[in-house]
Amino acid sequence: MTISPPAPPSTPTPGPDAPPVAVPDAPPATGAPAPRRTVAGRGFGGIGSDRARVDGPAKVTGTAPYAYEQEVENPAYLFGVTSAIAVGRIVDIDTTQAERVPGVLLVLTHRNAPRLRTKLMGELVVLQSDRVRHRGEYIGAVVAQTPEAAREAAALVRVRYDDEGGDVDFHADHPAATVPKRGAAGNPREEKGDVEAGLAGAAHLVDATYTTATEFHSPMEPHPITALWHPRPGLDPRARRLTIYEADQGPIATQLILAPMLGLLPNQIKIHSPFVGGAFGGKGMPHAHVMLVVLAAKLLAGRPVKFALTRQQMFATVGYRPPTAQRLRLAADADGRLTAVVHESVSPTAKLATFVEQAVGITRVMYATPNRRTEQRVVPLDIAPGTFMRAPGEFSGAFALETAMDELAVATGLDPIELRRRNEPDVDPDTGKPWSTRNLLACLDTGADRFGWEVRTGRPGERRDGEWLLGMGVAAASFPASHALSTWARITFAGGRYVVELQASDLGTGAWTILPQIAADALEVPVDLVDARIGSTGLPVAMIAGGSMGTYTWGNSIIAAARAFRRKHGPLPADGATARAQGRLPSGARQFARHSFGAHFAEVAVSEVTGEVRVRRMLGVFACGRIVNPRTARSQFVGGMTMGLSAALHEAGHRDPRTGHVVNHDLAGYHIAAHADVLDLDADWVEEFDPYVSPTGAKGIGEVGIVGVPAAIGNAIYDATGRRVRDLPFTPDKLVG
Ligand code: MOS
Repeated sequence: MTISPPAPPSTPTPGPDAPPVAVPDAPPATGAPAPRRTVAGRGFGGIGSDRARVDGPAKVTGTAPYAYEQEVENPAYLFGVTSAIAVGRIVDIDTTQAERVPGVLLVLTHRNAPRLRTKLMGELVVLQSDRVRHRGEYIGAVVAQTPEAAREAAALVRVRYDDEGGDVDFHADHPAATVPKRGAAGNPREEKGDVEAGLAGAAHLVDATYTTATEFHSPMEPHPITALWHPRPGLDPRARRLTIYEADQGPIATQLILAPMLGLLPNQIKIHSPFVGGAFGGKGMPHAHVMLVVLAAKLLAGRPVKFALTRQQMFATVGYRPPTAQRLRLAADADGRLTAVVHESVSPTAKLATFVEQAVGITRVMYATPNRRTEQRVVPLDIAPGTFMRAPGEFSGAFALETAMDELAVATGLDPIELRRRNEPDVDPDTGKPWSTRNLLACLDTGADRFGWEVRTGRPGERRDGEWLLGMGVAAASFPASHALSTWARITFAGGRYVVELQASDLGTGAWTILPQIAADALEVPVDLVDARIGSTGLPVAMIAGGSMGTYTWGNSIIAAARAFRRKHGPLPADGATARAQGRLPSGARQFARHSFGAHFAEVAVSEVTGEVRVRRMLGVFACGRIVNPRTARSQFVGGMTMGLSAALHEAGHRDPRTGHVVNHDLAGYHIAAHADVLDLDADWVEEFDPYVSPTGAKGIGEVGIVGVPAAIGNAIYDATGRRVRDLPFTPDKLVG
């Protein structure tokens, strides 16, 4: 086991901006020669080097072709018709007026939609019957020569329903709450030791309920898709071809899920997703509109059909983070050592498709305790399905756990960092395995030092600036470094340059930039000689950009492919030389518990007059293995922290209790953090190399940055005001009166 001692904080040094890159046709290669900058390791600009984004200039000049801008010949435009009720049956759907709108090519309903080859339910089963399963569900579509005509005609489709009502209102004591099947969200229930004895014998007990809000991913780029069925040259079904341009976290998901539903083989569907304008989990799996457009395009074979969701539609059918209500009990002895932990969470799920916001998982790994019970329950409702959103589960659970730890610190009179030190586990409390690397205490200590934690008195109301009460808070973070199987990469040498190819996806994260760095390191060539080709089917199969697994999983396969390449072709390869290989979990990895860690520090000012909360400063310090590129990594951490700040101060979707419609379904009603909210926010890390996650030494960085942020801010609010707010977000109404 390698536990590297914490090193002095690294200071990312910005290099000169890279020159503009030429953007070729999809799938593009980012082969721009970039000036050599801070050279790490062997001097190839490889792992550890500060490299500017190779796709940055194309993006800021508006020349990066996103899915909706892909140039296709003679496109038609779709607009969806959505249900006004939650549950029921379509009695009549009158399309006559819509069909009369000039430019309309097709009005699609369940009556004329192509049939899918599936008996399964799910969000992708659209227009297959007269049933309505949630408000906002697609019940039809119009395709026209222009987007305006399509939208106008869609508004003229008249629908009569047999409205059956439905149950759309989530509350924690809902009688239908049930423990879900063990599955995608892991084990919903576990218990060890004697919890009742641990609670009974405690010197200190925190027992409180915490709630988190429904959150929407709200990427800048709304979900776009262009679908084209190539005209059939004959009746041979093997000749069918479907091409899709979309924004996804990896084309493999859409390809493998759609193929059997459409009666196609996976290789009959080509998917291109070269640039993605933010995803945050929401573009990990295809949603209903993908199938809607594909079905419409099937009836217009030879004609590409385009659709990009409106901002309001982004609140209806593309997923969200389900809200939670969590009861947490922390029992501790007189020294603040935990004697029992009980974490129970309940959240809604859709009857249409189960998604569990598994909030209790993080409590199984964070702190040592002899007695523990965790239980996740769900309430099935007639609402649209939720989905993964940045740190699904960990984000929600950490708000409860890390706020409760702060409450325990107050109860025991211990500094919150000291309390965490006393409960630091030697081995993973969940599995009993040793840690591959765990440097949480180094993150806390480094952060305390850099943030000036010693200024904090721990006595609310003591520090002020005019009407503003000042306070500091801290919270810990973790996120699993899981392993994805069967991920491949190919390296080819042509024209004096190397190309690394795999189905990776760059969501704005930096994959275009860092994958050549990993390849350059392994090939021992300057990074300027390495291009990437990603974001398309037809390339070697790889893990999607999800679960914070992208960089190290893709890195595994790139290093394997580079080694295979050198074994086969030596240091002076002939033109056209190529090799591919599969990445594998490092040997011995399964004997270790593998997680990223971090610590968040926040300083807030709370107005005594208005209850407004300003986050004046935030610092995150992370232990995530080796940092592949300090510039893109810092952007990931700061991005996660910004998203956490946004959740802490603003974000909450509100449903109409009659239909489940999200009433604040735009960015005027659903607030996200703006520049004015983000003041002095920084990220740093401790030096670490984790050999049991990947030969890159890296662990995941995409999600750990958001985990615990609202708790750090809420704990700072308590330090400022003496008020404990247990419900997200921390809006002024909760802090005045
Ligand atoms: Mo993500 S929430 O890891 O797709």
